[in-house]
Amino acid sequence: MDVYAAVVTAFWVMLPAYIPNNAAVLAGGGRPIDGGRTFRGARLLGDGKTWRGLFGGWTAGAVVALALDALAVDASEVLGVTLPEFPLAVVVLFPLGAMLGDIGASFLKRRTGRERGAPFPGVDQLDFVVASLALALLAAPSWFLDTFTPGVLVVVVVITPILHVLTNAAAYLLGLKAEPW
Ligand code: CTP
Ligand code: MG
Repeated sequence: MDVYAAVVTAFWVMLPAYIPNNAAVLAGGGRPIDGGRTFRGARLLGDGKTWRGLFGGWTAGAVVALALDALAVDASEVLGVTLPEFPLAVVVLFPLGAMLGDIGASFLKRRTGRERGAPFPGVDQLDFVVASLALALLAAPSWFLDTFTPGVLVVVVVITPILHVLTNAAAYLLGLKAEPW
């Protein structure tokens, strides 16, 4: 697979995992998932992880995956790359994985004394990738191995932190997010 095809494929397949965290910023608010509970003196997850954010982000990612499925044949033609279609189990679990990775990161942040919104370099940028890929692998193992070739995975690991930094900075500048990370 050439570099162009790997980059196009990586962007395409990762969109349903990139969207949820950004949609959660817009959808968030209301009751925190941890209900205010604490563990060893710190919040379990914190006020930044809400039910509305979780379901809003998850739904947005799944809708994007369905939309990409509807567009895959035409887009493959236009872009000159055979784009994969998301099986239904992946439509559901891939964006959920992204949200669970973000929640897992908040759990780790609270355990390590980081307040809500404190940066955790590396973890903030890749938590959702690791968890979304893990759930996609569980959901559809052979589809996963066909789609996430080593070349595509390398592109994902390179572009994800860059996109994460850029989108969070944009959300901060637009006044949607309290911190630029
Ligand atoms: N958000 C939400 N529910 C989620 C994830 C995110 O409501 N499950 C919203 C919250 O308003 C949150 C914002 O999106 O403040 C930004 O998300 P994130 O940066 O992940 O949260 P932080 O507030 O930085 O909190 P943490 O330190 O726990 O990451
Ligand atoms: Mg944050």
